[in-house]
Amino acid sequence: MSLKESYNKLTSLIEETLLIGTIQNILNWDFETYMPPKGVEQRAKQFAYLAKVAHEKTTDPIIGNLLKTIMEHPEYRTLTDIEKRNLYLIKREYDKETRVPSELVAEIAAQSAKTIQVWKEAKKEKNYLLYKPELNKILALTKKRAHYINPNLEPFDVLLDEFEPGMTSDIITKLFNELKAGLIPLIEKCITSSNQPDISLLKRNCPIEIQKRLSTSIASIVNYDLERGSIDETEHPFTTGYYDDVRITTHYYENDFVDSFYSVMHEAGHALYEQNLNRDFLYTSVGNYCSLGIHESQSRFIENILGRSPEFWEYYLPIFKKITGEIFSDVKTHSLVHALNRVIPSKIRVTADEVTYCLHIIIRFEIERDLLTGKISVDELPSVWNRKYKDYLGVDIEDNTEGVMQDTHWAGGAFGYFPTYALGNIYNAQMLNAMLKDLSNFKELIKTGQLSPIINWMIEKVHKPANMYDPPELMKRITGEEINPKYFIQYLEKKYSKIYGF
Ligand code: CO
Repeated sequence: MSLKESYNKLTSLIEETLLIGTIQNILNWDFETYMPPKGVEQRAKQFAYLAKVAHEKTTDPIIGNLLKTIMEHPEYRTLTDIEKRNLYLIKREYDKETRVPSELVAEIAAQSAKTIQVWKEAKKEKNYLLYKPELNKILALTKKRAHYINPNLEPFDVLLDEFEPGMTSDIITKLFNELKAGLIPLIEKCITSSNQPDISLLKRNCPIEIQKRLSTSIASIVNYDLERGSIDETEHPFTTGYYDDVRITTHYYENDFVDSFYSVMHEAGHALYEQNLNRDFLYTSVGNYCSLGIHESQSRFIENILGRSPEFWEYYLPIFKKITGEIFSDVKTHSLVHALNRVIPSKIRVTADEVTYCLHIIIRFEIERDLLTGKISVDELPSVWNRKYKDYLGVDIEDNTEGVMQDTHWAGGAFGYFPTYALGNIYNAQMLNAMLKDLSNFKELIKTGQLSPIINWMIEKVHKPANMYDPPELMKRITGEEINPKYFIQYLEKKYSKIYGF
Protein backbone atom coordinates (compact mmCIF):
# COMPACT_ATOMS: atom_id res chain seq x y z
CA MET A 1 0.00 0.00 0.00
CA SER A 2 1.25 3.48 -0.83
CA LEU A 3 1.35 6.15 1.87
CA LYS A 4 -1.77 7.75 0.40
CA GLU A 5 -3.63 4.43 0.34
CA SER A 6 -2.74 3.71 3.96
CA TYR A 7 -3.81 7.19 5.01
CA ASN A 8 -7.13 6.90 3.17
CA LYS A 9 -7.79 3.48 4.63
CA LEU A 10 -7.13 4.81 8.12
CA THR A 11 -9.33 7.88 7.76
CA SER A 12 -12.19 5.79 6.36
CA LEU A 13 -12.05 3.62 9.51
CA ILE A 14 -12.09 6.76 11.66
CA GLU A 15 -15.05 8.11 9.69
CA GLU A 16 -17.03 5.04 10.77
CA THR A 17 -16.30 5.68 14.45
CA LEU A 18 -17.27 9.33 14.10
CA LEU A 19 -20.51 8.32 12.38
CA ILE A 20 -21.36 5.99 15.24
CA GLY A 21 -20.80 8.94 17.58
CA THR A 22 -23.36 11.04 15.71
CA ILE A 23 -25.88 8.18 15.90
CA GLN A 24 -25.31 7.85 19.66
CA ASN A 25 -25.90 11.60 20.02
CA ILE A 26 -29.23 11.54 18.23
CA LEU A 27 -30.41 8.48 20.16
CA ASN A 28 -29.45 10.24 23.37
CA TRP A 29 -31.26 13.41 22.33
CA ASP A 30 -34.38 11.33 21.66
CA PHE A 31 -33.92 9.57 25.03
CA GLU A 32 -33.90 12.96 26.79
CA THR A 33 -36.76 14.52 24.84
CA TYR A 34 -39.47 12.46 23.15
CA MET A 35 -38.83 8.77 23.81
CA PRO A 36 -41.92 7.05 25.27
CA PRO A 37 -41.29 6.17 28.95
CA LYS A 38 -41.53 2.45 28.37
CA GLY A 39 -38.79 2.55 25.74
CA VAL A 40 -36.04 2.73 28.37
CA GLU A 41 -34.92 -0.90 28.31
CA GLN A 42 -34.92 -1.11 24.55
CA ARG A 43 -32.90 2.09 24.36
CA ALA A 44 -30.42 0.85 26.99
CA LYS A 45 -29.80 -2.19 24.78
CA GLN A 46 -29.23 0.05 21.76
CA PHE A 47 -26.82 2.25 23.72
CA ALA A 48 -24.86 -0.74 25.03
CA TYR A 49 -24.62 -2.26 21.53
CA LEU A 50 -23.38 0.96 19.95
CA ALA A 51 -20.89 1.56 22.77
CA LYS A 52 -19.49 -1.94 22.21
CA VAL A 53 -19.22 -1.49 18.44
CA ALA A 54 -17.63 1.94 18.87
CA HIS A 55 -15.06 0.61 21.35
CA GLU A 56 -14.18 -2.35 19.10
CA LYS A 57 -13.76 -0.03 16.14
CA THR A 58 -11.62 2.54 17.96
CA THR A 59 -9.30 -0.13 19.38
CA ASP A 60 -9.10 -2.26 16.21
CA PRO A 61 -5.42 -3.35 15.83
CA ILE A 62 -5.67 -2.42 12.12
CA ILE A 63 -5.68 1.21 13.26
CA GLY A 64 -2.50 0.68 15.25
CA ASN A 65 -0.81 -1.05 12.31
CA LEU A 66 -1.83 1.65 9.84
CA LEU A 67 -0.61 4.39 12.20
CA LYS A 68 2.76 2.66 12.50
CA THR A 69 3.07 2.13 8.73
CA ILE A 70 2.23 5.75 7.99
CA MET A 71 4.38 7.35 10.68
CA GLU A 72 7.42 5.26 9.79
CA HIS A 73 6.94 5.77 6.06
CA PRO A 74 9.91 7.54 4.37
CA GLU A 75 7.47 9.98 2.71
CA TYR A 76 5.71 10.89 5.98
CA ARG A 77 7.17 14.40 5.73
CA THR A 78 5.28 15.00 2.49
CA LEU A 79 1.92 14.90 4.28
CA THR A 80 0.10 18.20 4.87
CA ASP A 81 -0.24 19.81 8.30
CA ILE A 82 -3.91 18.83 8.35
CA GLU A 83 -3.07 15.19 7.60
CA LYS A 84 -0.37 15.19 10.27
CA ARG A 85 -2.74 16.68 12.82
CA ASN A 86 -5.32 14.02 11.95
CA LEU A 87 -2.73 11.31 12.54
CA TYR A 88 -1.69 12.89 15.84
CA LEU A 89 -5.31 12.98 17.06
CA ILE A 90 -6.04 9.43 15.89
CA LYS A 91 -2.92 8.17 17.65
CA ARG A 92 -3.72 10.05 20.86
CA GLU A 93 -7.19 8.50 20.98
CA TYR A 94 -6.03 5.03 19.96
CA ASP A 95 -3.22 4.93 22.54
CA LYS A 96 -5.58 6.03 25.27
CA GLU A 97 -8.36 3.61 24.39
CA THR A 98 -6.07 0.62 24.03
CA ARG A 99 -4.27 1.23 27.31
CA VAL A 100 -7.46 0.81 29.34
CA PRO A 101 -8.61 -2.84 29.63
CA SER A 102 -12.09 -3.29 28.16
CA GLU A 103 -13.30 -4.93 31.40
CA LEU A 104 -12.47 -1.70 33.23
CA VAL A 105 -14.30 0.34 30.57
CA ALA A 106 -17.41 -1.81 31.10
CA GLU A 107 -17.05 -1.67 34.88
CA ILE A 108 -16.83 2.12 34.82
CA ALA A 109 -19.88 2.40 32.55
CA ALA A 110 -21.94 0.22 34.87
CA GLN A 111 -20.71 1.92 38.06
CA SER A 112 -21.26 5.42 36.74
CA ALA A 113 -24.86 4.54 35.79
CA LYS A 114 -25.35 3.10 39.27
CA THR A 115 -23.77 6.05 41.08
CA ILE A 116 -25.93 8.50 39.11
CA GLN A 117 -29.03 6.48 40.01
CA VAL A 118 -28.09 6.39 43.72
CA TRP A 119 -27.16 10.10 43.61
CA LYS A 120 -30.69 10.89 42.41
CA GLU A 121 -32.26 8.85 45.19
CA ALA A 122 -29.90 10.18 47.86
CA LYS A 123 -30.61 13.73 46.73
CA LYS A 124 -34.35 13.12 47.02
CA GLU A 125 -33.90 11.62 50.48
CA LYS A 126 -31.32 14.24 51.47
CA ASN A 127 -29.01 11.45 52.53
CA TYR A 128 -25.31 11.79 51.76
CA LEU A 129 -24.51 8.51 53.51
CA LEU A 130 -26.48 6.65 50.85
CA TYR A 131 -24.46 8.30 48.07
CA LYS A 132 -21.03 8.07 49.73
CA PRO A 133 -20.11 4.38 49.11
CA GLU A 134 -21.08 4.58 45.41
CA LEU A 135 -19.17 7.83 44.99
CA ASN A 136 -16.16 6.15 46.55
CA LYS A 137 -16.40 3.28 44.03
CA ILE A 138 -16.58 5.50 40.95
CA LEU A 139 -13.72 7.60 42.32
CA ALA A 140 -11.53 4.51 42.75
CA LEU A 141 -12.34 3.22 39.26
CA THR A 142 -11.66 6.60 37.67
CA LYS A 143 -8.30 6.75 39.43
CA LYS A 144 -7.51 3.26 38.18
CA ARG A 145 -8.37 4.24 34.63
CA ALA A 146 -6.15 7.34 34.85
CA HIS A 147 -3.29 5.15 36.05
CA TYR A 148 -3.67 2.87 33.01
CA ILE A 149 -3.65 5.85 30.66
CA ASN A 150 -0.49 7.34 32.15
CA PRO A 151 1.09 5.87 35.29
CA ASN A 152 3.72 8.62 35.37
CA LEU A 153 1.28 11.48 35.86
CA GLU A 154 -0.95 12.48 38.76
CA PRO A 155 -4.40 10.96 38.02
CA PHE A 156 -6.01 14.40 38.14
CA ASP A 157 -3.71 15.70 35.42
CA VAL A 158 -4.50 12.70 33.21
CA LEU A 159 -8.23 13.34 33.54
CA LEU A 160 -7.91 17.09 33.07
CA ASP A 161 -5.89 16.58 29.90
CA GLU A 162 -8.72 14.54 28.38
CA PHE A 163 -11.09 17.49 28.67
CA GLU A 164 -8.54 20.23 28.10
CA PRO A 165 -5.43 19.05 26.24
CA GLY A 166 -2.27 20.75 27.46
CA MET A 167 -3.74 21.84 30.79
CA THR A 168 -2.23 20.76 34.12
CA SER A 169 -3.35 21.20 37.73
CA ASP A 170 -0.31 23.41 38.38
CA ILE A 171 -1.38 25.84 35.65
CA ILE A 172 -4.99 25.76 36.87
CA THR A 173 -3.92 26.41 40.46
CA LYS A 174 -2.00 29.47 39.34
CA LEU A 175 -4.83 30.75 37.12
CA PHE A 176 -7.45 30.21 39.79
CA ASN A 177 -5.38 31.95 42.48
CA GLU A 178 -5.21 35.00 40.22
CA LEU A 179 -8.95 34.77 39.64
CA LYS A 180 -9.69 34.52 43.35
CA ALA A 181 -7.54 37.57 44.06
CA GLY A 182 -9.47 39.58 41.49
CA LEU A 183 -12.97 38.27 42.12
CA ILE A 184 -13.27 38.45 45.90
CA PRO A 185 -12.83 42.25 46.22
CA LEU A 186 -15.09 42.82 43.21
CA ILE A 187 -17.87 40.71 44.73
CA GLU A 188 -17.46 42.65 47.97
CA LYS A 189 -17.88 45.96 46.12
CA CYS A 190 -21.04 44.76 44.36
CA ILE A 191 -22.77 43.31 47.40
CA THR A 192 -21.99 46.26 49.66
CA SER A 193 -23.02 48.85 47.08
CA SER A 194 -26.02 50.94 48.13
CA ASN A 195 -27.18 50.76 44.52
CA GLN A 196 -29.03 47.42 44.33
CA PRO A 197 -31.37 46.43 41.48
CA ASP A 198 -35.06 45.54 41.69
CA ILE A 199 -35.03 41.89 40.71
CA SER A 200 -38.76 41.36 41.20
CA LEU A 201 -39.36 42.38 37.59
CA LEU A 202 -37.54 39.22 36.47
CA LYS A 203 -40.22 37.11 38.18
CA ARG A 204 -43.17 38.54 36.29
CA ASN A 205 -45.42 35.92 34.82
CA CYS A 206 -44.48 35.30 31.20
CA PRO A 207 -46.58 32.65 29.38
CA ILE A 208 -44.58 29.79 27.89
CA GLU A 209 -45.94 30.46 24.38
CA ILE A 210 -44.35 33.92 24.59
CA GLN A 211 -41.08 32.51 25.93
CA LYS A 212 -40.95 30.14 22.97
CA ARG A 213 -41.21 33.10 20.63
CA LEU A 214 -38.33 34.72 22.52
CA SER A 215 -36.30 31.54 21.97
CA THR A 216 -36.66 31.61 18.18
CA SER A 217 -36.05 35.35 18.15
CA ILE A 218 -32.72 34.94 19.98
CA ALA A 219 -31.72 31.98 17.81
CA SER A 220 -32.13 34.07 14.69
CA ILE A 221 -30.35 37.11 16.17
CA VAL A 222 -27.23 35.10 17.02
CA ASN A 223 -27.30 33.27 13.64
CA TYR A 224 -28.10 29.83 15.07
CA ASP A 225 -29.50 28.11 11.97
CA LEU A 226 -32.78 26.40 12.89
CA GLU A 227 -32.97 24.67 9.51
CA ARG A 228 -29.96 22.73 10.79
CA GLY A 229 -31.09 22.68 14.41
CA SER A 230 -34.02 22.64 16.80
CA ILE A 231 -35.06 23.89 20.24
CA ASP A 232 -36.75 21.30 22.46
CA GLU A 233 -37.40 20.93 26.19
CA THR A 234 -35.51 18.97 28.86
CA GLU A 235 -34.97 19.43 32.58
CA HIS A 236 -31.29 20.26 32.07
CA PRO A 237 -30.55 22.22 28.89
CA PHE A 238 -27.89 20.80 26.56
CA THR A 239 -26.57 20.89 22.99
CA THR A 240 -25.89 17.89 20.83
CA GLY A 241 -25.04 17.35 17.20
CA TYR A 242 -22.57 17.85 14.43
CA TYR A 243 -22.49 20.25 11.42
CA ASP A 244 -25.94 20.06 9.77
CA ASP A 245 -27.95 18.71 12.68
CA VAL A 246 -27.13 20.52 15.91
CA ARG A 247 -29.96 20.57 18.45
CA ILE A 248 -30.37 22.51 21.65
CA THR A 249 -32.78 22.16 24.56
CA THR A 250 -34.11 24.50 27.22
CA HIS A 251 -36.75 24.52 29.96
CA TYR A 252 -39.58 26.97 30.56
CA TYR A 253 -40.92 28.35 33.85
CA GLU A 254 -43.79 30.85 33.67
CA ASN A 255 -42.40 33.05 36.45
CA ASP A 256 -38.76 32.88 35.35
CA PHE A 257 -38.24 33.86 31.72
CA VAL A 258 -34.56 34.58 32.45
CA ASP A 259 -33.85 30.90 32.93
CA SER A 260 -34.92 29.81 29.46
CA PHE A 261 -33.79 33.04 27.77
CA TYR A 262 -30.18 32.58 28.85
CA SER A 263 -30.25 28.81 28.51
CA VAL A 264 -31.13 29.31 24.85
CA MET A 265 -28.39 31.90 24.42
CA HIS A 266 -25.85 29.65 26.13
CA GLU A 267 -26.74 26.53 24.16
CA ALA A 268 -27.01 28.49 20.91
CA GLY A 269 -23.40 29.57 21.52
CA HIS A 270 -22.40 25.90 21.75
CA ALA A 271 -24.48 25.10 18.67
CA LEU A 272 -22.92 27.88 16.58
CA TYR A 273 -19.52 26.31 17.17
CA GLU A 274 -20.67 22.89 15.92
CA GLN A 275 -22.58 24.32 12.95
CA ASN A 276 -19.60 26.35 11.78
CA LEU A 277 -16.73 23.88 12.07
CA ASN A 278 -14.65 23.79 8.89
CA ARG A 279 -16.68 21.81 6.36
CA ASP A 280 -13.51 20.47 4.68
CA PHE A 281 -12.87 18.56 7.93
CA LEU A 282 -16.23 16.76 8.05
CA TYR A 283 -15.99 13.21 9.51
CA THR A 284 -12.29 13.52 10.29
CA SER A 285 -10.56 13.91 13.64
CA VAL A 286 -9.69 17.57 13.05
CA GLY A 287 -13.35 18.21 12.22
CA ASN A 288 -14.20 18.37 15.90
CA TYR A 289 -14.25 20.97 18.66
CA CYS A 290 -10.90 21.88 20.23
CA SER A 291 -11.67 21.33 23.93
CA LEU A 292 -14.47 21.66 26.46
CA GLY A 293 -13.01 24.94 27.72
CA ILE A 294 -13.01 26.41 24.21
CA HIS A 295 -16.57 25.10 23.70
CA GLU A 296 -17.63 26.80 26.91
CA SER A 297 -15.96 30.05 25.83
CA GLN A 298 -18.33 30.11 22.87
CA SER A 299 -21.49 29.54 24.90
CA ARG A 300 -20.51 32.06 27.56
CA PHE A 301 -19.51 34.64 24.98
CA ILE A 302 -23.04 34.59 23.53
CA GLU A 303 -24.76 34.30 26.91
CA ASN A 304 -22.78 36.78 29.00
CA ILE A 305 -20.50 39.01 26.97
CA LEU A 306 -23.18 39.63 24.34
CA GLY A 307 -26.45 38.68 26.00
CA ARG A 308 -26.03 40.35 29.38
CA SER A 309 -24.37 43.50 28.05
CA PRO A 310 -26.07 46.90 28.35
CA GLU A 311 -25.49 47.38 24.59
CA PHE A 312 -27.39 44.22 23.71
CA TRP A 313 -30.42 45.36 25.68
CA GLU A 314 -30.28 48.81 24.13
CA TYR A 315 -30.89 47.03 20.85
CA TYR A 316 -33.05 44.14 22.00
CA LEU A 317 -35.45 45.73 24.52
CA PRO A 318 -37.87 47.10 21.86
CA ILE A 319 -38.00 43.68 20.17
CA PHE A 320 -38.41 42.02 23.56
CA LYS A 321 -41.30 44.35 24.42
CA LYS A 322 -42.97 43.67 21.09
CA ILE A 323 -42.87 39.91 21.72
CA THR A 324 -43.88 40.09 25.40
CA GLY A 325 -46.65 42.71 24.95
CA GLU A 326 -47.84 44.38 28.16
CA ILE A 327 -45.73 42.32 30.57
CA PHE A 328 -42.56 44.41 30.50
CA SER A 329 -43.90 47.55 28.81
CA ASP A 330 -42.84 49.81 31.74
CA VAL A 331 -39.30 48.41 32.04
CA LYS A 332 -36.28 50.66 31.36
CA THR A 333 -33.03 49.36 29.83
CA HIS A 334 -30.83 50.19 32.83
CA SER A 335 -33.10 48.58 35.44
CA LEU A 336 -33.41 45.41 33.38
CA VAL A 337 -29.65 45.22 32.72
CA HIS A 338 -28.90 45.80 36.41
CA ALA A 339 -31.39 43.12 37.48
CA LEU A 340 -30.00 40.65 34.94
CA ASN A 341 -26.49 41.29 36.27
CA ARG A 342 -27.16 41.28 39.99
CA VAL A 343 -24.21 39.87 41.93
CA ILE A 344 -25.20 37.71 44.86
CA PRO A 345 -23.16 34.92 46.47
CA SER A 346 -25.26 31.76 46.48
CA LYS A 347 -25.14 28.03 47.09
CA ILE A 348 -26.06 26.78 43.64
CA ARG A 349 -23.57 26.85 40.76
CA VAL A 350 -25.93 26.65 37.79
CA THR A 351 -27.89 29.75 38.79
CA ALA A 352 -24.84 31.76 39.91
CA ASP A 353 -24.13 35.17 38.38
CA GLU A 354 -21.21 35.93 36.09
CA VAL A 355 -18.98 37.30 38.89
CA THR A 356 -19.44 34.66 41.60
CA TYR A 357 -19.63 31.73 39.15
CA CYS A 358 -15.90 31.05 39.00
CA LEU A 359 -15.68 30.73 42.79
CA HIS A 360 -18.09 27.78 42.59
CA ILE A 361 -15.70 26.20 40.09
CA ILE A 362 -12.59 26.99 42.12
CA ILE A 363 -14.13 25.25 45.13
CA ARG A 364 -14.90 22.14 43.07
CA PHE A 365 -11.44 22.10 41.51
CA GLU A 366 -9.63 22.35 44.85
CA ILE A 367 -11.78 19.55 46.24
CA GLU A 368 -11.50 17.14 43.31
CA ARG A 369 -7.76 17.67 43.05
CA ASP A 370 -7.40 16.77 46.75
CA LEU A 371 -9.81 13.85 46.42
CA LEU A 372 -7.74 12.34 43.64
CA THR A 373 -4.43 12.72 45.46
CA GLY A 374 -6.06 11.24 48.56
CA LYS A 375 -5.49 14.39 50.60
CA ILE A 376 -9.16 14.33 51.52
CA SER A 377 -11.60 11.41 51.63
CA VAL A 378 -15.26 11.16 50.66
CA ASP A 379 -16.03 11.03 54.41
CA GLU A 380 -14.70 14.55 54.80
CA LEU A 381 -16.28 15.81 51.59
CA PRO A 382 -19.37 17.58 53.04
CA SER A 383 -17.42 19.35 55.76
CA VAL A 384 -14.67 20.47 53.35
CA TRP A 385 -17.31 21.64 50.88
CA ASN A 386 -19.26 23.61 53.48
CA ARG A 387 -16.14 25.23 54.90
CA LYS A 388 -15.02 26.42 51.47
CA TYR A 389 -18.46 27.84 50.69
CA LYS A 390 -18.29 29.78 53.93
CA ASP A 391 -14.73 30.99 53.27
CA TYR A 392 -15.08 31.92 49.59
CA LEU A 393 -18.73 32.89 49.23
CA GLY A 394 -19.80 33.57 52.79
CA VAL A 395 -22.79 31.24 52.56
CA ASP A 396 -23.88 28.56 55.03
CA ILE A 397 -24.77 25.15 53.62
CA GLU A 398 -27.19 23.37 55.90
CA ASP A 399 -28.31 20.69 53.53
CA ASN A 400 -26.00 18.50 51.39
CA THR A 401 -28.48 18.53 48.49
CA GLU A 402 -27.69 22.24 48.19
CA GLY A 403 -24.05 21.46 48.84
CA VAL A 404 -21.89 18.59 47.73
CA MET A 405 -24.77 16.69 46.09
CA GLN A 406 -25.94 19.45 43.75
CA ASP A 407 -24.02 18.37 40.61
CA THR A 408 -24.09 15.11 38.69
CA HIS A 409 -20.50 15.29 37.35
CA TRP A 410 -18.66 13.35 40.05
CA ALA A 411 -21.41 10.73 40.21
CA GLY A 412 -20.81 10.09 36.52
CA GLY A 413 -17.05 9.84 37.09
CA ALA A 414 -16.29 13.19 35.42
CA PHE A 415 -13.49 14.36 37.72
CA GLY A 416 -11.40 17.14 36.18
CA TYR A 417 -14.31 18.46 34.15
CA PHE A 418 -15.32 21.47 36.28
CA PRO A 419 -12.25 23.64 35.57
CA THR A 420 -13.28 23.84 31.89
CA TYR A 421 -16.26 26.02 32.86
CA ALA A 422 -14.00 28.67 34.39
CA LEU A 423 -11.48 28.31 31.56
CA GLY A 424 -14.34 29.20 29.20
CA ASN A 425 -14.70 32.54 31.00
CA ILE A 426 -10.97 33.22 30.93
CA TYR A 427 -10.73 32.32 27.23
CA ASN A 428 -13.72 34.34 26.10
CA ALA A 429 -12.61 37.57 27.79
CA GLN A 430 -9.15 37.11 26.27
CA MET A 431 -10.75 36.53 22.86
CA LEU A 432 -12.88 39.64 23.35
CA ASN A 433 -9.73 41.66 23.97
CA ALA A 434 -8.30 40.43 20.65
CA MET A 435 -11.62 40.97 18.87
CA LEU A 436 -11.73 44.62 19.98
CA LYS A 437 -8.52 45.26 18.06
CA ASP A 438 -10.20 44.09 14.85
CA LEU A 439 -13.69 45.44 15.57
CA SER A 440 -13.15 48.75 17.33
CA ASN A 441 -16.84 49.56 16.80
CA PHE A 442 -17.81 46.43 18.76
CA LYS A 443 -20.24 48.23 21.10
CA GLU A 444 -21.81 50.19 18.24
CA LEU A 445 -22.37 46.96 16.31
CA ILE A 446 -24.22 45.40 19.24
CA LYS A 447 -26.28 48.51 19.94
CA THR A 448 -27.49 48.49 16.34
CA GLY A 449 -28.10 44.75 16.25
CA GLN A 450 -25.34 44.01 13.75
CA LEU A 451 -24.06 40.87 15.40
CA SER A 452 -22.86 39.14 12.22
CA PRO A 453 -19.38 40.75 12.08
CA ILE A 454 -18.85 39.69 15.72
CA ILE A 455 -20.07 36.14 15.18
CA ASN A 456 -18.15 35.85 11.92
CA TRP A 457 -14.96 36.84 13.77
CA MET A 458 -15.56 33.89 16.12
CA ILE A 459 -16.29 31.60 13.18
CA GLU A 460 -13.01 32.51 11.47
CA LYS A 461 -10.82 32.47 14.58
CA VAL A 462 -12.36 29.64 16.63
CA HIS A 463 -14.94 27.55 14.76
CA LYS A 464 -13.16 27.09 11.43
CA PRO A 465 -9.83 25.92 12.92
CA ALA A 466 -11.89 23.21 14.69
CA ASN A 467 -9.40 20.79 16.23
CA MET A 468 -6.30 21.81 14.25
CA TYR A 469 -4.58 23.00 17.45
CA ASP A 470 -4.65 22.21 21.16
CA PRO A 471 -6.03 25.06 23.31
CA PRO A 472 -2.65 26.66 24.24
CA GLU A 473 -1.68 26.91 20.56
CA LEU A 474 -5.15 28.08 19.47
CA MET A 475 -5.17 30.84 22.10
CA LYS A 476 -1.72 31.98 21.03
CA ARG A 477 -2.85 32.15 17.41
CA ILE A 478 -6.01 34.07 18.26
CA THR A 479 -4.73 36.43 20.94
CA GLY A 480 -0.93 36.42 20.54
CA GLU A 481 -0.36 35.19 24.09
CA GLU A 482 -0.88 32.30 26.46
CA ILE A 483 -3.95 31.96 28.62
CA ASN A 484 -4.17 35.03 30.86
CA PRO A 485 -6.93 35.58 33.44
CA LYS A 486 -6.33 39.33 33.70
CA TYR A 487 -8.66 40.05 30.76
CA PHE A 488 -11.59 38.36 32.45
CA ILE A 489 -11.01 40.34 35.67
CA GLN A 490 -10.64 43.58 33.69
CA TYR A 491 -13.81 42.84 31.72
CA LEU A 492 -15.79 42.22 34.92
CA GLU A 493 -14.38 45.28 36.73
CA LYS A 494 -15.23 47.56 33.83
CA LYS A 495 -18.71 46.16 33.30
CA TYR A 496 -19.78 45.95 36.94
CA SER A 497 -18.35 49.28 38.07
CA LYS A 498 -20.51 50.85 35.37
CA ILE A 499 -23.64 48.88 36.20
CA TYR A 500 -23.34 49.35 39.97
CA GLY A 501 -21.88 52.82 39.70
CA PHE A 502 -18.70 52.53 41.79
CO1 CO B 1 -22.08 24.98 28.45
